[in-house]
Amino acid sequence: MGRYNSVYDRWRTDPEGFWMEAAQQIDWITPPTGALDDSTPPFYRWFADATCNTCHNAVDRHVEAGRGDQPAIIHDSPITDSQRILTYRELQTETAKLGGALQALGVTKGDRVLIYMPMTPEAVIAMLACARIGAVHSVVFGGFASNELAVRIDDCTPKAVIAASCGLEPNRTVPYKPLLDGAIDMADHTPDAVILKQRPQLTADMVPGRDHDWDTLTGDAAEAPCVPVGGADPLYILYTSGTTGKPKGVIRANAGHLVALNWSMKNIYNMDPGDVFWAASDVGWVVGHSYIVYAPLIAGCTTVLFEGKPVGTPDAGTFWRVIAEHDVKALFTAPTAIRAIRQVDPEGEFIAKHNLSGFHTLFLAGERADPATVEWAAEKLNVPVIDHWWQTETGWTIAGNPSGIELLDIPVGSAGVAMPGYDIRILDEGGNELPDGTLGAIAVKLPLPPGSLPTLWNADERFQSSYLTTFPGYYETGDAGMKENGTLKIMARTDDVINVAAHRLSTGEMEEALARHPDVAECAVIGVADELKGQSPVGLVCLKGGTNRPHEEIAAECVTRIRETIGPVAAFKKVGIVARLPKTRSGKILRATMVSIADDTPWNMPATIDDPAVLDEITATLKDLGYAKGA
Ligand code: COA
Ligand code: AMP
Repeated sequence: MGRYNSVYDRWRTDPEGFWMEAAQQIDWITPPTGALDDSTPPFYRWFADATCNTCHNAVDRHVEAGRGDQPAIIHDSPITDSQRILTYRELQTETAKLGGALQALGVTKGDRVLIYMPMTPEAVIAMLACARIGAVHSVVFGGFASNELAVRIDDCTPKAVIAASCGLEPNRTVPYKPLLDGAIDMADHTPDAVILKQRPQLTADMVPGRDHDWDTLTGDAAEAPCVPVGGADPLYILYTSGTTGKPKGVIRANAGHLVALNWSMKNIYNMDPGDVFWAASDVGWVVGHSYIVYAPLIAGCTTVLFEGKPVGTPDAGTFWRVIAEHDVKALFTAPTAIRAIRQVDPEGEFIAKHNLSGFHTLFLAGERADPATVEWAAEKLNVPVIDHWWQTETGWTIAGNPSGIELLDIPVGSAGVAMPGYDIRILDEGGNELPDGTLGAIAVKLPLPPGSLPTLWNADERFQSSYLTTFPGYYETGDAGMKENGTLKIMARTDDVINVAAHRLSTGEMEEALARHPDVAECAVIGVADELKGQSPVGLVCLKGGTNRPHEEIAAECVTRIRETIGPVAAFKKVGIVARLPKTRSGKILRATMVSIADDTPWNMPATIDDPAVLDEITATLKDLGYAKGA
């Protein structure tokens, strides 16, 4: 039996013992007496009777163990042409000061703090400072607009907001403060205080009484100690797209997260303390939470915080420059980033310019890793390229290749094998298990492992209806796929979530935004195949009777509307105005059929379609938008 099989079997036969053993790597204030609390199914809690502090485990314990002078964070910003290193000792001081400043503003254990920050060390400091004082952070990605911020402010009711004056995109400065002020105006809940980091690129206006300058406030602050929290207490809330306009507040609890992420760094990523790990994502996404911030720091590694893009900052060699310059051992990014590099540098000429001898592994996740991209990267980089599958909800890998246990020979196109903690099943609509090679819904037998969501913020019922009711006893992942020789292939989402440049977005949410346009009677947003971004959203819109304004004008307004309500990250650029949408006789819009037409994939006329002739106009419109080329 291989090493992976024996580790997986060990978990299967004794999950309690497996996780209690993993828990020994964590510094506890009060150690757990047991791993799983299953007294209130379908809600499960891990290490609930322990007390701990996540910031202590991510920062202070490494200083105490003699790693104070080791770089904790390397901030590399080709956008500002600057680099900054923070050692573990400096990170400890900075987080303790910001924690003290938050406490001085009245923020205490259990209070929520919303963080709206670009990729700067202050974003990490803000997250850790909250963890330090037991406050619950909720980071909002910088590419979201005011409305998205407002929805999150109302849902998690933060006592304070921590923000920066601006984000920096290659083509523009993004002023955050007007977006934040707009969101606070829009929201019903009003935070007591805003802490603002002024960046040299843009100075934001301050609201007297409410807004505090980061530098002044932390300069005067007392250093806060790490506050003990319960193992099942929330560390953070991270909102993710669901099927409706209201995002889901995924909760991460302190203890399970500590144990699972610490386990993952060695066993999945093969990283040891002192190694340099780089997740080229954003702190606003789950990959950023888990693998820019928490996991590398909990494991005593150095994490790279990269403020740039894979191409254009300044060129397609940036990733390889960062790896060589900072001695990065493993890079974790999304396939779309590699596709972007390959488009510009198909021969890998930039790769050859850098010494990548210390680089061991490329990890990919966030969207389907297409074989052409995986094969290109493996050939040009000459390192293992590992696809692994996970979600905001789980916080760490469901299926992958456990390179620290044993590097398995996983076929390209497969996302790997189940990690300990995950009992993965492929189910049909009735919940029956399907044989190998057959496509079905991917479900995970309950309980989910430590680190995964215990519930949704203030929404136990939604947690159950979103994930637990379709297949009783299982967590419904929302992905479809199949097993083949023990490995898992991830094929598509089963809901209306789409993946644009590895950013998870809801077409339902975009439809809700479009439907509020005064001239729009009804609409559909579909995710069509995109060579670079994996998928891209396309809107099909029917106008209200009597609307005789130019169609181009309305289409342009629809694009602006999504950019202003959801944000530029939606990358919503294409809208077609149509007379009717294809529907079933019962009135359900046939989105999947439209996707097949756009993508030129085989499809059958749905037996339930109300009027097949509608599809002629849809096909013509999609053609005009640059899709349905073969139709
Ligand atoms: N703040 C403000 N705006 C942002 C933003 C942020 N943090 N991130 C993205 N945007 C904006 C972009 O500027 C762009 O705006 P534009 O329409 O004015 O050009 C828009 O959102 C779409 O961004 P993106 O989808 O990133 O497209 P891009 O063309 O700028 O870059 C890639 C394409 C492939 C290079 C880029 O998407 C990428 O690096 N992807 C990796 C994805 C990733 O790491 N995902 C995290 C999950 S693992
Ligand atoms: P997020 O919650 O933003 O991390 O997005 C999670 C979703 O991204 C999953 O449910 C999948 O649909 C998709 N995804 C993530 N990783 C992979 C992968 N390795 N292969 C295919 N799809 C993936």
